[in-house]
Amino acid sequence: MKLLVALVLSVALISSASAKVYTKCEFARIMYDSGYPMEHLPDWVCLAIHESALNSNVVGGPNTNGSFDWGIFQINDGYWCKVGYVGNDCNMDCNKLVDDDLTDDIACSKIVYARHGFTAWNAWKSKCQGSLDAYQVTECF
Ligand SMILES: *[C@@H]1O[C@H](CO)[C@@H](O)[C@H](O)[C@H]1NC(C)=O
Repeated sequence: MKLLVALVLSVALISSASAKVYTKCEFARIMYDSGYPMEHLPDWVCLAIHESALNSNVVGGPNTNGSFDWGIFQINDGYWCKVGYVGNDCNMDCNKLVDDDLTDDIACSKIVYARHGFTAWNAWKSKCQGSLDAYQVTECF
């Protein structure tokens, strides 16, 4: 019985460590603290909800071209990160984009955003552009 409890507990710990789902407000505050302006937070919240359901550990794909998308922002490994080693334009290993620490995800999002704006994200174009009423974050601050 003790062994079973320990086993169940450790499995629960392992799966919680590998499936961090942020709340809208947690995510909005982290983005604000990372330097993103308040007026863009609804766009980021909407984008992350539709890309990853705010789950920092999601690997999406394969896409039709064989690439995969990594983490809360679903950053593509064709251009921005490399799987298993440091590389591409964010100069990072994609595996760093699926841990619970959003610091490197956000750093990479800044590089993507600087180059393409929100249009880099298909989910933003289809679900967020011009329709952000449901993603306001005023109650988070
Ligand atoms: C591969 O597909 C993904 C998802 O549609 C896209 O974001 C990416 O730009 C594509 N990569 C190339 C090299 O075409």
